[in-house]
Amino acid sequence: MVCEMTFEPKILSFLCNWCAYAGADLAGISRFQYPPNSRVIRVMCSGRVDPSFVPRAFLAGYDGIMILGCHPGDCHYLTGNYQAEKKIGLTRKLLEMAEIGSERLLLDWVSAGEGERFSQVVRQFVEKIRALGPFPLNQSMKERLQAVKASLEGEKIRWMVGKGPELMEKENVYHEQLPKEKVEAAIETTIRDELIKNRIVSLVETKPLPAGEISQALNLKLNETLSYLISLVGEGKIAFDPSEEGKVPKYIRTL
Ligand code: FES
Repeated sequence: MVCEMTFEPKILSFLCNWCAYAGADLAGISRFQYPPNSRVIRVMCSGRVDPSFVPRAFLAGYDGIMILGCHPGDCHYLTGNYQAEKKIGLTRKLLEMAEIGSERLLLDWVSAGEGERFSQVVRQFVEKIRALGPFPLNQSMKERLQAVKASLEGEKIRWMVGKGPELMEKENVYHEQLPKEKVEAAIETTIRDELIKNRIVSLVETKPLPAGEISQALNLKLNETLSYLISLVGEGKIAFDPSEEGKVPKYIRTL
C-alpha cells in the first residue's frame, strides 16, 4: 500500500503543440516551478485526444489525466478545442455513470505565452490528485474502466459525439429541428445503455455469471438486466454457458 505521506501522483498530460506545450517550454525558460509528476504527450491539438485514452491511462496506473489546449477561439484548427470539450464532457458523464468519478480528469486552456499559468495549472492539479490519493485500481474498478473504454470505442457513442450537437443545431431532412431536451435525453439513454451492456460483457469476461448476480453487481432490477442480456445474446456478444446445461443459466463472453 502506498503511504499517503509518500504518495507521488502519476499524471499523464496531453499538451497541444501550439499552445500548452509552448507554455510548458516558457515555464521552463522562465524558471516557474511546477512538480515533475507528469508524463507529457505532445499532440497537435486537444481535439486529437481520443476519449478512450482516459480509461486506458487509468488502467495503465495513472492517478490523474490532464489535457491542455488552446483557449476557446484560438485553436490552430479552428474547432479542435470545442471538439475536445464535447468529447471530454461525454467522457466525464460516462465516468460518473460508472461510479468512477471524473475529478481526476482535467481539461483546461493555456496559451503559448502563459508559462506562469501553465505552472499554476499543473501545481494545482497535482495537489488535487495528491489530496485524493492513489487511483483505486481494484478488480471492480478495472471492470468499470474496461466498460467505459469499450463504450467510448463503440460506434454509437462516437456517432453521438460527432452528430449530437448537429442534431440540436440544424434541421433534419424533413426540415424539423429536434428540441434540445429530446436530443439530450436520447444521448443520455444511449450512453447508459452502452455502458450497462459493456459492463455486462466485462463482468462475464472473467467467469460465467447468472442473471441474478449480474443484476446485483450492476444494481439493476432483474427485469431490466434480462432485457439487456437478451439484447447482448442477440448481438452475439454473450451466450449461455454450454457446460452449465440443466442448471441456472449462466452467461459467458463470446469471442
Ligand atoms: Fe491547440 Fe487545437 S491547436 S487546441
